[in-house]
Amino acid sequence: MSISQIARTISASPTLALNEKAAILREKGEPVIHLGAGEPKSKVPMDAILAAAAHLNTGEIRYAPADGIPALKKAIIHYTEEHYNRLVEPENVMASGGAKQAIMVALQAILNPQEEVIYPAPYWVSYPEMAKLCGAIGVPVLPEDGTFYPRIQDIEQKVGSYTKAVIINSPNNPTGAMYSEEFIANVVDFCEKRDLYLIMDDIYHRLIFDNRRPINCYEYAKDISENSKLIVINGISKQYAMTGFRIGWAVANKKLIEVMTNIQGHQTSGPSVVLQKAAVGALNGIQSSVENLRVTLENNRNVMIEHLNSFEGIKVTKPDGTFYCFADFSVYGKESTKISEFLIDKVLVLTVPGVEFGMEGYMRLSFCGSIKDITEGIERMKWALDPNSPNELYIGDRKLVRDWT
Ligand SMILES: Cc1ncc(COP(=O)(O)O)c(C=O)c1O
Repeated sequence: MSISQIARTISASPTLALNEKAAILREKGEPVIHLGAGEPKSKVPMDAILAAAAHLNTGEIRYAPADGIPALKKAIIHYTEEHYNRLVEPENVMASGGAKQAIMVALQAILNPQEEVIYPAPYWVSYPEMAKLCGAIGVPVLPEDGTFYPRIQDIEQKVGSYTKAVIINSPNNPTGAMYSEEFIANVVDFCEKRDLYLIMDDIYHRLIFDNRRPINCYEYAKDISENSKLIVINGISKQYAMTGFRIGWAVANKKLIEVMTNIQGHQTSGPSVVLQKAAVGALNGIQSSVENLRVTLENNRNVMIEHLNSFEGIKVTKPDGTFYCFADFSVYGKESTKISEFLIDKVLVLTVPGVEFGMEGYMRLSFCGSIKDITEGIERMKWALDPNSPNELYIGDRKLVRDWT
């Protein structure tokens, strides 16, 4: 089959593939525990459901403007004012089919073939593939000090004449690390001085723990005029547990939003109006679900860390936010894909191999499921990996026997 050169370089999304694997196993009645998930399990806010249902009830579901319906833009403007203390205009906002599309379209709007976009490693799985889709090059930056917290020097070292943009995702998927205010201030300053686009992927910015406050990149920007190259990305997927609604957005200068809207207009004509209505419902409705989710996740994080700390040989860094823990499993093997496959085969626990995020030997474990899944999932992993485990393990009334060393 003849396919394009770019298409040949694009790999399947490993996290979406895992979701499918979990669904197939569950359908077969297998007692699988999904510690690879990237979505909270809480219910969608009622305000979102009612808003979408009301629109469906009109029986008139039509095309919507490519950059988002006015009501959603208004809600996003309000969100930006409330959470970033920044007043923007409708022309500064574009709603997309998830934060994923907002980032993709932003990259398509700014990157030429061969140009480079820099992001700290470990990184969200889609950044390298998105760069490739633009014919551009993703450049991961591994913090030199071996932590999950990059320093501005790490970024500086990778910037060259082809660098066009930097992506910062804090708190970070997969590590849960929330970068310091000082680092964010330095990156904003650095990108302004070097005339680089800065994409702030803030999709997890409200899901943070231990009394941390979200960091507002605009506070450190010297230039917030229409020349600013700051692009702030957000969405409803994570904070409102609305992953299936596929609504995210970008806030940026008007010219860039116009260009992004042109691109999106030819791709998808913008997101479905029904789902935009749902997003308006979530953003304008009762907000308690976000705090409830945050508190639940903080508790889940504590339970996961406690269990992982008693796991012989595993090294963990306590996540500051998100719902992911990125643990070092290298004592059990150098190839994270093999460990991940072993765990699903032997004890039906799904994890995401660290190599997918640009870091071998690590595994991403999600704590967005139930406490039961977290505790039982880690117990099963321990049993499978630790050579000192007892010979047998029961999953329900199924007896597993350890026939490996
Ligand atoms: C860091 C990061 N950015 C963006 C996204 C995309 O989110 P959305 O569901 O809004 O497309 C995800 C989803 O996993 C993510 O982890």
